[in-house]
Amino acid sequence: MEYSEIGFWSEAKLDIVLKYAKAYSTILSKRKALTHIYIDAFAGPGLHRAKISGRPIAGSPMNALTVEPPFAEYHFIDLDNKRVQALEDLAGTHPDVRVYHGDCNEILIKDLFPRLAYKSFRRALCLLDPYGLHLNWEVIKTAGDLGTIDIFLNFPIHDINRTVLVRDPSKMDPRQVKRLNAFWGDNSWREAAYATDANLFGYEEKVCTNDELAAAFRRRLVEVAGFAHVPEPVYMRNSKRAGLYYLFFASQKPVAEHIVRDIFQSYAPASERGQLF
Ligand SMILES: C[S@@+](CC[C@H](N)C(=O)[O-])C[C@H]1O[C@@H](n2cnc3c(N)ncnc32)[C@H](O)[C@@H]1O
Repeated sequence: MEYSEIGFWSEAKLDIVLKYAKAYSTILSKRKALTHIYIDAFAGPGLHRAKISGRPIAGSPMNALTVEPPFAEYHFIDLDNKRVQALEDLAGTHPDVRVYHGDCNEILIKDLFPRLAYKSFRRALCLLDPYGLHLNWEVIKTAGDLGTIDIFLNFPIHDINRTVLVRDPSKMDPRQVKRLNAFWGDNSWREAAYATDANLFGYEEKVCTNDELAAAFRRRLVEVAGFAHVPEPVYMRNSKRAGLYYLFFASQKPVAEHIVRDIFQSYAPASERGQLF
């Protein structure tokens, strides 16, 4: 298996998720009536290689398996054959790991989330880390409605800017619009992204900054998906300071927000410089 190369922003994401997973598992392990599980919906191969140094870097599924105290169950999902094979190799010696080969949008809704009703006494930490607009809003909304799931979510601003938000909205590609509608849950992103009046050239120009679009999405996580606690996300940029994605966290618990806000804040100044380490 060829492992993918990752930039420093992905290393930062992995660190953030691992730090919170440790805190989460420590707190939930003390709640004896509850079972806590880890879900990695866009799991990847489990191991990467750092772009600059070439050293091997544990991916999010491998990191989750190192967390002490451990989660009761681990669920790793990926669409790619080779990555699923690598995940199965990783799972080999762990009877508490289940690997799924398929579209996580279906597997989460059909197989995993139905086991997470409030009265099931199960709670979950779920990482939703697509490369681009591959996640359906239904997953986010169902997680919010259940009230039992904390999520980390990759909001793929680079993909959105590159494929959907052209300056003149009449030139948008309808297939790309459909992808953003599916991720956002409806087409209300247009209100945040485009002016309501035509410009001198006769079209309603794109007016929003990346931060404004992310702020509108944050409001949706609270007002539409029903998450009570959504701290400001971390903005991940490359060394040229181009925006890649926003790492969001959403939960129903104030304590979870406090922990993640502290973790996020320790990365914020470096993220501003476009160099996280
Ligand atoms: C950004 S990578 C995940 C990296 C991983 N979270 C980490 O940090 O180590 C995204 C992964 O999602 C997988 N993927 C893409 N679309 C998917 C889908 N609809 N369902 C499940 N996996 C998907 C890709 O094959 C890829 O391995």
